Amino acid sequence: MCGIVGYIGPRQAAGLLIDGLRRLEYRGYDSAGIAVVNGHGLKIMKAAGKLSVLENELKEKMPEGTIGIGHTRWATHGAPTTTNAHPHTDQSGRIAVIHNGIIENSSVIRKALQQRGHVFKSETDTEVLAHLVGELYQGNLEEAVASALREVDGAYGLVFLSSDEPGVLVAARKGSPLLVGVGENEWFIASDASPLLQYTRSVVYLDDGEMAVLTREGYRVRNLETARISKEVNQIDWDLAQSERGGYPHFMLKEICEQPESIWNTLRGHLLEEDGTARVTGLNLTDEELKQFERVIITACGTSWHSGIIGEYMLEEMARLPVEVEYASEFRYRNPVVDPRTLVIGISQSGETADTLAAVREAKRRGARTIGLVNVVGSTIAREVDGGIYLHAGPEVGVASTKAFTSQVAALALISLRIARLRNLSILQGRQFVEALQRLPAQAAQILERASEIEQLADRFLRTTRNALYLGRGVNFPVALEGALKLKEISYIHAEGYPAAEMKHGPIALIDENMPVVFIAPRDAVHSKIVSNIEEVKARGGKVIALINEGDSEIERLADATFTIPETLDLLTPILTSIPLQLLSYYVAVSRGCNVDQPRNLAKSVTVE
Ligand code: M6R
Repeated sequence: MCGIVGYIGPRQAAGLLIDGLRRLEYRGYDSAGIAVVNGHGLKIMKAAGKLSVLENELKEKMPEGTIGIGHTRWATHGAPTTTNAHPHTDQSGRIAVIHNGIIENSSVIRKALQQRGHVFKSETDTEVLAHLVGELYQGNLEEAVASALREVDGAYGLVFLSSDEPGVLVAARKGSPLLVGVGENEWFIASDASPLLQYTRSVVYLDDGEMAVLTREGYRVRNLETARISKEVNQIDWDLAQSERGGYPHFMLKEICEQPESIWNTLRGHLLEEDGTARVTGLNLTDEELKQFERVIITACGTSWHSGIIGEYMLEEMARLPVEVEYASEFRYRNPVVDPRTLVIGISQSGETADTLAAVREAKRRGARTIGLVNVVGSTIAREVDGGIYLHAGPEVGVASTKAFTSQVAALALISLRIARLRNLSILQGRQFVEALQRLPAQAAQILERASEIEQLADRFLRTTRNALYLGRGVNFPVALEGALKLKEISYIHAEGYPAAEMKHGPIALIDENMPVVFIAPRDAVHSKIVSNIEEVKARGGKVIALINEGDSEIERLADATFTIPETLDLLTPILTSIPLQLLSYYVAVSRGCNVDQPRNLAKSVTVE
């Protein structure tokens, strides 16, 4: 949420910053701005709207300077206007800041500053920070920032720049991700690695409470109390090509199509065919410890929460362990019953979602063992949990999560298999499960080869609708939730996911000839039940689109249209049934002219509460 990039080195900064912001735009895209310092002082350019608006403005007059900061915004305080766009400056106009997060005591500080004569231009909390630093500035930006941050409550990832010190960038992190990119005689600061990958793969992740000072001679990490901190330099193991569209019209389509590979990348190296189990050493738990857990809590948000529900079905069915799935935003504010015998699994693509991070911290505080299923290597959740599994799905840029979802389910399958084999699952059942997992990438590819069938369904049933229902049962109920979320977020069609049998307790009232109903109905343990639910919809004139297995003549006869998915074990069907639903929402959104990769009001990584 909000993208941050800063540069100091021999290159011209402005173009580099814009390029970096383009890669960060998925984090927020309601306005953007840059600031550079050159012989004429501080030059700031900013514009409301997509980054392209700012780019157009800069075309003729790219400011010169080899140090600068850039920001792409997702509004929290104040509307997405040019005035509210970052960077913001202090009263003197010589200090600029970009910020991701929320300064919770900004109104108190603002009032105090106003009483001392400060005049604010924007409605943002960030401008308050700039003024505070300006007031404390006595010729040393680093010290002024440190002093100001001691007065501030809330979350931030921020970078300051001053025309009085044209060779220094001062960054600080508390709650919002930041990393330093270490190049050859050049240094970067960014909210994730994507803007600096073409220059360097060496990065230093800042932890909460840390500041980084970047000069033309190097970088230094310290805390607010001035102690110097020695930090490990990490190497990024993915390359730029993976974070580019590579010929696809949208990141979302690219990421959907990558799933045969990304699912395999999650599973690879974990499957033990002979033993019919999974090797998950990253959990940092011995077999004895794994056996001793009495319950599991899975906590996550959005799509990751949906995969968590699938994990609940898997762990309960396979390992006979009681599982609760909690919205991270709720978990952290109630009084959850958690103890050392509870295993808490935090799921997050980005590893930066503020609510999930807070829930994991809360669980740790209460003595639970925490593990993370995270895609972004080196992200905060990944670093704070006791152990976990990296998804290795590759960078996911489209705001709608797709390949991360199937990889999360694959990772949950690995954990479930491991625990189940330690508890009660036979070696034979374990081997069957491993074999089924190994078949998934090829089966996903078979589905993707028939994407044009889904495109036709999208056009025939959903393109012009205002509402849609997604219904599934058992382990495909969360797939219904996920299908509905995908449609909502990128095509702005109101959609609801429901357990199919719950429909008759209310939503059935919505069904008429204008209501498309998507059933997820593979031939599984609840197949006969869902057939009855389809009958109920048809009896009321609803249009039924059903995901079924090959040869399901019963549903073929009832439904208005069907799409077949390959057979797999019941518990693994979500990995296959979710793919046509991703494609369905993608094609609907494209046909309605929506901005698929950057839907309105959303951001890829939600780093505020
Ligand atoms: O990065 P996370 O997995 O923690 O993100 C959680 C949600 O914000 C995310 O899944 C969101 O719901 C997506 N836009 C769904 O497509």
